Amino acid sequence: MTKTIAQIRNEAAASLSPERQQQWEQFLTPMPVAQQAVGLFTPTDKPVRILDLGSGSGILSAVTANRSAQGSSVVAIEQDADLAQASESSLRQACDDVEVINTSIFDVLLDARFDRVILNPPYKKISPTVIATSGGGVKVTNLYTAFMVTAIQALDEGGECVAIIPRSWMNGDYFKDFRKWMLDECSLDALAVYGSRQEHFKDMNILQEIMLVKVSKRPQVKKVTVYADATPARPLEQQPHESVILKALLMGRDRIVRIQRQDPRLSEFKTMAEQGLWVSTGKLVWFRNRDVLSNVEEPDGHPLYWSDNQNGMMTVHPVECDREQWVTGEADTRNVVLPAGSYCLVNRFSSKEQRHRIYASYLRSDVGFVADNKLNYVHQGTSRQTVPLDDKAARGLTLWLSSSIVDEWYRQVSGSTQVNATDLRQMPCPSKGQLAALSDRLPIDNDVSQGHIDAVIGGLFSWAQAS
Ligand SMILES: C[S@@+](CC[C@H](N)C(=O)[O-])C[C@H]1O[C@@H](n2cnc3c(N)ncnc32)[C@H](O)[C@@H]1O
Repeated sequence: MTKTIAQIRNEAAASLSPERQQQWEQFLTPMPVAQQAVGLFTPTDKPVRILDLGSGSGILSAVTANRSAQGSSVVAIEQDADLAQASESSLRQACDDVEVINTSIFDVLLDARFDRVILNPPYKKISPTVIATSGGGVKVTNLYTAFMVTAIQALDEGGECVAIIPRSWMNGDYFKDFRKWMLDECSLDALAVYGSRQEHFKDMNILQEIMLVKVSKRPQVKKVTVYADATPARPLEQQPHESVILKALLMGRDRIVRIQRQDPRLSEFKTMAEQGLWVSTGKLVWFRNRDVLSNVEEPDGHPLYWSDNQNGMMTVHPVECDREQWVTGEADTRNVVLPAGSYCLVNRFSSKEQRHRIYASYLRSDVGFVADNKLNYVHQGTSRQTVPLDDKAARGLTLWLSSSIVDEWYRQVSGSTQVNATDLRQMPCPSKGQLAALSDRLPIDNDVSQGHIDAVIGGLFSWAQAS
């Protein structure tokens, strides 16, 4: 009896060698996710030329071929010989014209002749590499974006590409070249972000937040279809979605892509960067500066702040913890000491379990101080020069960054638990004057409840009434 495409996938998944699975990132797509991905392609009666990059068991191209007209063809590229065999078996069930190439996708010269390109690529970080394109080249720092560039370049005019990839390309600095290139090169047609990390790829132990993205080789479509909280449990078309013009999803020069239109209550505000607030990352990398860390305060030393010093909306120093609370005077020679004054500190890392992604704390230091590299700090200077904030603005900013609406905004921008400076700079923010007024309404105090913070912010800007 011939095996089904799903059986071939399950058997291939069960017989993966653990070492090779890790090395080549063999996380095979389960059937419900494969069907959702393929379902994003526009139905057509005409035969199509299908390409599958890193085809694994061949599930993605086999399901695509199954749903395509007679006369369609498939090229599948897979570097693992066993999986290439599995691809061959799956594809033979779905299509008469099949070519499985058992090599790396980077060793194959692909013409721009495909109508349907589908992929669930490996996700690994790589050292920055420039992939040649018609416009010169695009810098990639990750295997999945390298696969995406290859996939998009293989599209014929009008061709469509559906990929199962992490959400990380949508924000942050690392992916900005790729984002700009992709958005210039093709139309962004659909995004479906899987809400829970556990639900899909159940047998594959995938920890990243994963999404489906559909792009096509044609001018940008009027509206992008966005499923902001998709599940593989039901067909996508039965799930809540929005049709949004691309412009409403893009932010700033770096073209950060949001998964939802911005809350209209935030639209009246400029970004933090436009308000003259700059987000920098703490300058002390402790393991490169072990020799200046100190458990005691020395006359020419400086206080050292870690995320351990963040206590609710306040920053406390010194605290009892296993990290040194001071640096010696030698730190003055290392370009890590920040000028005395008022700031707002923001964590760079959070955990999934924490209630907020963003943790902001007000800092007032009467002496020059040092911030650990795992903290961001907000000031009113530039990337080269740190200038402390007006004290009231620092307090108001801490309240603003502690509000629920801001946390919600951040979650729509980033799927990761990291809070990076590039994204924060694009955050809508009241002016310094408004922030100062906010600090008059509500003193920073750790006994203040979340509801109280939200109510004060809502009242100040008349949101509660407007919504
Ligand atoms: C995440 S798995 C997905 C497999 C399959 N597309 C699926 O959806 O089930 C990525 C696949 O790409 C293959 N792979 C990794 N690097 C590759 C490369 N440079 N060229 C071709 N295949 C590669 C791996 O062996 C693995 O089968």
